[in-house]
Amino acid sequence: MDKEIKKSAMPEKKKDQKQNTSGTELKKPLRKKSTVSRTKKPAAKAKVSKTPKSDDSAKALDNGTSNVSKTKEKPSGPVSSGIENKPIHQEKKKHSVTSEIEPTTKFIYNLKGKRSIVGLTAYDAIMSKLVSKAGVDFILVGDSVGTTLLGYETTVQVTIDDMVHHTSAVKRGMPECLVVADLPFGEASFSFDRLLESSRRLMQSGADAVKIEGGKDVADDIEKLVATGIPVMGHIGLLPQTVKAIGGYRKFGTDRVEADSIYTDAICLEEAGCFAIIAEMIDGKLATELTKQILPPLIGIGSGDHCDGQILVTHDLLGLTPSPLPSFVKPCASLGLDGLNALQRYVHRIRSM
Ligand code: KIV
Repeated sequence: MDKEIKKSAMPEKKKDQKQNTSGTELKKPLRKKSTVSRTKKPAAKAKVSKTPKSDDSAKALDNGTSNVSKTKEKPSGPVSSGIENKPIHQEKKKHSVTSEIEPTTKFIYNLKGKRSIVGLTAYDAIMSKLVSKAGVDFILVGDSVGTTLLGYETTVQVTIDDMVHHTSAVKRGMPECLVVADLPFGEASFSFDRLLESSRRLMQSGADAVKIEGGKDVADDIEKLVATGIPVMGHIGLLPQTVKAIGGYRKFGTDRVEADSIYTDAICLEEAGCFAIIAEMIDGKLATELTKQILPPLIGIGSGDHCDGQILVTHDLLGLTPSPLPSFVKPCASLGLDGLNALQRYVHRIRSM
């Protein structure tokens, strides 16, 4: 497959391809081979309840205040945490939220148009068990492990050995959903053989599919990978592995040229056989339009509320990170601050013995 799209070699636009309704005039690359028709409308999204501002929570980790959960008076004597000390594997199933989840790429693909897809990251067995019990549709063992857990400045330093290590740990948590593992920086750039070997290692350590950052430039290799039986999730828009080259994090697709290029990326990944595509920090209108136009589900992160689903870094969602949160994250807990308070109480308790 040529890297450039050979428009002359492509069939006419599919009759059932949805018309652009948002007013975002995209230069549409025509599909080369897709014959699947889309019959389902993207699902309406549920309203999100009001949550505290992410910036405030991030600041709270620095200055010890939070609007997420207020610090309680420091007790003088031994304290009860109020937490039931029950291992999570002994927790009774309150509702069978996971019973409809199937750990297959087909399940994720077929959710498009039915309901919103939920993905969260996990890097270890405990978090894997927790997010699976919460009912996510898939877990991403993201290379965000580098910045979230390993103390790296960016994801660039993360190696395939790191990813294999964390993927195995996530698998040991026995999640009941699909596990997707990130191919780290550089793995898709050396050679196809290297990409295949790295993907094989991730699959053999427990991944059900791999995720690769990039669009048209990596589509040929993704197509070959899919042909060998390795399911691939795409990732377009902001590609954190290129952050050194692009000079920081920003919104993508706000101008016409970039929007057209992202649209081409999405179509190339669809044609390469991706079962789903992550859209990171894409302009909201563009993401809405792409969601209607492409066949695989578009899973957004910082790309507005109208994608086929959403993914977030779990540690961000739980307020368990010392770094400022991205503006699109509305944390639903403040575990970093709560954990710090608990540890301080413990230190106080022992010192006062
Ligand atoms: O590594 C990661 O966690 C990701 C998500 C931000 C999509 O790629």
